[in-house]
Amino acid sequence: MAALITNGVLQYEDDIDHEPAGGVTDPAPRTAALSRYPVPSPRQPVGAWGGAGVRARARAWTGKLLARRIQKRGIDLSSLTFIPERTKVPLQRHGIDPVPRLAQLRETDPVHRLRLPFAFSVYLVTGTEQVRAVLADRDSWSNDIRHLLPGAGPSSADEVGGLGFTDPPLHTRLRKIITPEFTMRRLARLEPMISTIVAQRLDALAAAGSPADLARLVSFPVPFQTICALLGLELEDRDAFARLGVQRFDATAGAAAAFGAVSAQREFLFDAVARQRVEPGPGLIGQIIRDEGDRISDVDLAGLADGVFTGGYETTAGMISLSTMVLLRDPAHAALVRDGSRADVDRVVEELLRHLSVVQMAFPRFAKHDLDLFGVPLEAGDVVLASLSGANRDPRSAGAEPEVFDPRRQPTSGHLAFGHGIHRCIGAELARMELRVVLPALLRRFPDLALAVPQQELSFRELSFVYGLDELPVRF
Ligand code: HEM
Repeated sequence: MAALITNGVLQYEDDIDHEPAGGVTDPAPRTAALSRYPVPSPRQPVGAWGGAGVRARARAWTGKLLARRIQKRGIDLSSLTFIPERTKVPLQRHGIDPVPRLAQLRETDPVHRLRLPFAFSVYLVTGTEQVRAVLADRDSWSNDIRHLLPGAGPSSADEVGGLGFTDPPLHTRLRKIITPEFTMRRLARLEPMISTIVAQRLDALAAAGSPADLARLVSFPVPFQTICALLGLELEDRDAFARLGVQRFDATAGAAAAFGAVSAQREFLFDAVARQRVEPGPGLIGQIIRDEGDRISDVDLAGLADGVFTGGYETTAGMISLSTMVLLRDPAHAALVRDGSRADVDRVVEELLRHLSVVQMAFPRFAKHDLDLFGVPLEAGDVVLASLSGANRDPRSAGAEPEVFDPRRQPTSGHLAFGHGIHRCIGAELARMELRVVLPALLRRFPDLALAVPQQELSFRELSFVYGLDELPVRF
């Protein structure tokens, strides 16, 4: 396997779409030690480079250099300024659709090894059955990424916290603390507040005049203000905070930018937690401080707040923009949401969640021990990237023509847009509530709503774990 760095992006000569027949030689004998990842020089695949000329030799040389550098320093995710080309497939889309390669992999190789120059193997899992099996199996898989972060510094492993990156028993304890806030009964209290926020944002859209940016005026502020209210955060600093949220899931500049944003955002929340220790506020942070007192540390509390924020902000914002775009493509779909019953709206929202799969991949899962995954042998420390957008378009679960948006769809099993198992989205009901309020209200208030630019000109995110639009120009 040859690797080279172009514009800061690690690329492979044998790109994922052009693997030579017979595959490529295993690039790296593996080690069970997780703290360091020694990476040997990539071996030449037999026959792949023979006589391929100067360019291939230069690539081989660059690949060796890179491998040596990783070998010397180990992998520190927080300083990775590229993401390997092959890992892009589950993040890339054509408009709202995953790239065709994802469906191809799901059909031919649903547990697909991505050949990367690491000492552990990385597998892309794309079928519903396979994704569900990984996410359900808490005994075999860990979410703990600390072994890939440095022990100290701006994005220190000591400060990771949060539900998404923890395993039981800590995960169980932390999740239990916030679960009461997310029960249907408690959430029902938020509904009038969400309606008020939505009404204000629609006023702001009307005041801006046609055409206007729906993403900036509605899609981002609705979940942002909802979560600020849920957590009991002051709305000051919202612009800076909102910007950090966007960088965080965007892998275009590699993991380093994302982890930089993590630490800055975490700092903001640390401050909020420290302030509320002295004077607990009305929201979730204050409630936890009142209930748990010193039994919960500032790191764990800031981590929880951070998880709720990042879990619920960009995801819901992406859903609002993309859902609007999808509904505006077909007047019958828009009418169903505008004039339909509550049950009609619920069905549309579920199909939008499946079809759009804005959280493209689950958090990486690390194998706790050697295991067999649908016939593929994995070793302890190997990584699985579970593609939710791949699984949600699997005809075995979604039914016929899974790529079509069809609110009358009768899937054979529920979608995986909120994940599955112990890490399943804790905010699923809140997200549904926001979507069920905002979409009908928007279409009723602006019956002539339409995109102001052709779909091809929209600013879809590139390589973001959370898919979405940064702008959505509309006219009304
Ligand atoms: C449409 C919007 C949303 C989508 C598509 C979504 C999707 C997901 C998915 C797929 C996971 C599981 C990831 C995994 O297993 O690796 C997850 C976890 C999580 N989500 Fe959401 N989410 C949404 C909205 C929200 C909201 C509104 C909140 C809170 C206000 C939230 C908070 C969380 C938290 C805290 C976790 C971690 C749970 C755990 O690890 O136990 N999410 N979300």
